[in-house]
Amino acid sequence: MLSTIFGFEMPTRLLFGQGAVENLGFECSLNGWASALIVTDEGVHRAGLTKPVEEQLQSQGVRYALYTGVVPNPTIESIEAAVPLAQDADVVIAVGGGSVMDSAKLINAIRTHGGRVRDYEGADTVPAPCKPLVAIPTTAGTGSEVTFIAMFTDTAKHQKMPVVSRYLAPHLAIVDPEMTRHLPPAPTAQTGLDALTHAIEAIVGIQANPFSDMLAFEAIRLITRYLPRAVENGSEDTEARGAMAFAATIAGAAFNNSMVGIGHAIAHAIGGLYNLPHGLCCALALPVAMHFNLEARRERFEQIAAVMGYAHADTEVVPMPHAIIQGGLWDKSFTAEDAVLRVRQLMSEVGLPAHLIDVGVEVSESDLEVLTDLTLADGSILFNPVQPTREQVKELLRHIATYAE
Ligand SMILES: [Fe+2]
Repeated sequence: MLSTIFGFEMPTRLLFGQGAVENLGFECSLNGWASALIVTDEGVHRAGLTKPVEEQLQSQGVRYALYTGVVPNPTIESIEAAVPLAQDADVVIAVGGGSVMDSAKLINAIRTHGGRVRDYEGADTVPAPCKPLVAIPTTAGTGSEVTFIAMFTDTAKHQKMPVVSRYLAPHLAIVDPEMTRHLPPAPTAQTGLDALTHAIEAIVGIQANPFSDMLAFEAIRLITRYLPRAVENGSEDTEARGAMAFAATIAGAAFNNSMVGIGHAIAHAIGGLYNLPHGLCCALALPVAMHFNLEARRERFEQIAAVMGYAHADTEVVPMPHAIIQGGLWDKSFTAEDAVLRVRQLMSEVGLPAHLIDVGVEVSESDLEVLTDLTLADGSILFNPVQPTREQVKELLRHIATYAE
């Protein structure tokens, strides 16, 4: 395995741990940042999560403005509205989930290089490094704090569009589990499944490599073991919140290098058309996507099943997944099918639905055609181990839409 040539990048400096946000003031003085724009959304602001950030800025005399206009599945308008506010700031600070961090990346690119959101659609569209950007996640899922990726929604087309550039990566990610502590159970479960989808797709994708594997398997172990606890008792269980925050960040670093697959292609299609949370869409798509890739990546799924099995085992010592995989030591009694089963079990344990009908979305035949087009047009699918036919995509979407007759 280590005889293959591979690359790995994580240009973002990471500051991780309980109370890490309290270092923001010091970081500002260290970097000479005297003015800032905080980018967030109404919900995060109402929950009081910008307060510790504002206190840090005030403590160092950093002037700042606050933009609370980020919307879920961020629109072009909601991103461009913040650009004038960011123009003179020394640093843009994102405080929120994936929508907020993705918006802040695009605001930062536009304030640095000019243009409009649409100009940046696609890969390698940001011409040079951007001005300083700090990402402070308030969910444990997206991994956007360490990735090169920002998604925006073209509302005219009901389509989620990607911007992928190494220059989008935040300069600094401050991952403080305390910021996720009061996230309610449903978004905790949904965002946790986003992270699990990143990890699984990083492992089975065509760009998987030993470095991203190491991070992704460890993320799977942590999510299996701690997501139910974070959902059950997140405001008290700081150990579980810490493990989930770490898992989401390392899964982000993994898929940033290995990319994702058909699960994300489907999740983007559903999320764009019905304006549903990304984590929920990932949860709906993941088991079906895994099943589709089962034959092409049987051994990888056996390894995933083993890691999930060990993580669940009621033992004091859980072996490090990387050692297991590299050493070829995983218990061969775990089957590829077990991986799908364990993901389904985890989903039901944390109260996630299995079908779109469960969240009140009825998929019409014409919607099915649109969703199929959107899935096939999504760039994530290029990294999937198997390229599906149109009929296969439609069949997968039918499975996700509702229960089999
Ligand atoms: Fe994702």
